[in-house]
Amino acid sequence: MIEVENLTKTYGGARGINDITFSVDKGEILGFLGPNGAGKTTTMRILTCFMPATSGSARVAGYDVFEDSLSVRREIGYLPETVPLYTDMQVPTYLRFVAGLKEVPFREIKKRVEKIMEQVGLTHMAHKFIGELSKGYRQRVGLAQALVNDPQVLILDEPTIGLDPKQIIEIRSLIRGLGGERTIILSSHILPEISMISQRVIIIDEGKVKAIDTPEKLMQQLHATDKIRARIAGPCDSVKQALEKIDGVKNVELIEDTGGITNGYMLEFSDGFDGSHMVARTAVEGKWDLYELTPVKMTLEDIFIRIVTEEEV
Ligand SMILES: Nc1ncnc2c1ncn2[C@@H]1O[C@H](COP(=O)(O)OP(=O)(O)OP(=O)(O)O)[C@@H](O)[C@H]1O
Ligand SMILES: [Mg+2]
Repeated sequence: MIEVENLTKTYGGARGINDITFSVDKGEILGFLGPNGAGKTTTMRILTCFMPATSGSARVAGYDVFEDSLSVRREIGYLPETVPLYTDMQVPTYLRFVAGLKEVPFREIKKRVEKIMEQVGLTHMAHKFIGELSKGYRQRVGLAQALVNDPQVLILDEPTIGLDPKQIIEIRSLIRGLGGERTIILSSHILPEISMISQRVIIIDEGKVKAIDTPEKLMQQLHATDKIRARIAGPCDSVKQALEKIDGVKNVELIEDTGGITNGYMLEFSDGFDGSHMVARTAVEGKWDLYELTPVKMTLEDIFIRIVTEEEV
């Protein structure tokens, strides 16, 4: 349903996105995860025909976003990062106006607008002017305008930003419920949110794709690299060297350098290997006292940080 190939966008000389490739199947929900400036909004703007890419190609519902942008726009509902709203219009008036622009058949407009307002929790704001609404309610109007023509593709740039916790839960389940029939891309900085809603997650950083997989697979990857924190009394260099020789150890980091004899180390194992007993044995063999041996589970945040901070090879 969405195919992106080698998409690159430079702003002047500055990097926006660099050689991004991915695809989204019909009915799939893909989560875009990345820190500020990663390129999430840039990618979404290209997909929604708000601006052209520098190179590469993107197709939505079979239409090329450069050559057939009118057809693409017809298939897409877009919640931009900053929603351009007409502040002097009342909510239903605005939504009817958007529905008209998006070619919703005239006789269906009233019903569609009522339904969508109910779905996003706006019904009791019907008499308000958009300019009078709080940030969270404006966000709901933004979501409503994206949905009003019942598009088969939804591109939602940080849909839950600015909402209160109750509304966040409601909007998340609304989005999840919209999947299946529709194809959805949404972005967020919030890892648990993304993994809750999406079937697949794409992690982007500095304009590049760093990982793309199901939340489960990303989690497995994360469990496969459990760590152990150890505090050992012994000459720092010798202890570190001995720890590095343990089977299955990927990395040893000195995390607590006291300047004295007892220091803290973080060991990283590969393939879910639990090397606690080996650490204990190494300490005994070196005749060093062992003060702490704690398994440290990596969190989803850790893997995100790891993926976005990994050195390029
Ligand atoms: N209009 C623009 N002119 C120049 N540079 C831009 C412009 N828009 C974005 N950029 C740059 O492109 C890169 C990607 O920005 P983008 O807005 O796509 O990031 P993002 O992932 O959406 O970040 P955020 O989480 O902050 O919304 C950044 O380095 C940014 O400075
Ligand atoms: Mg953005």
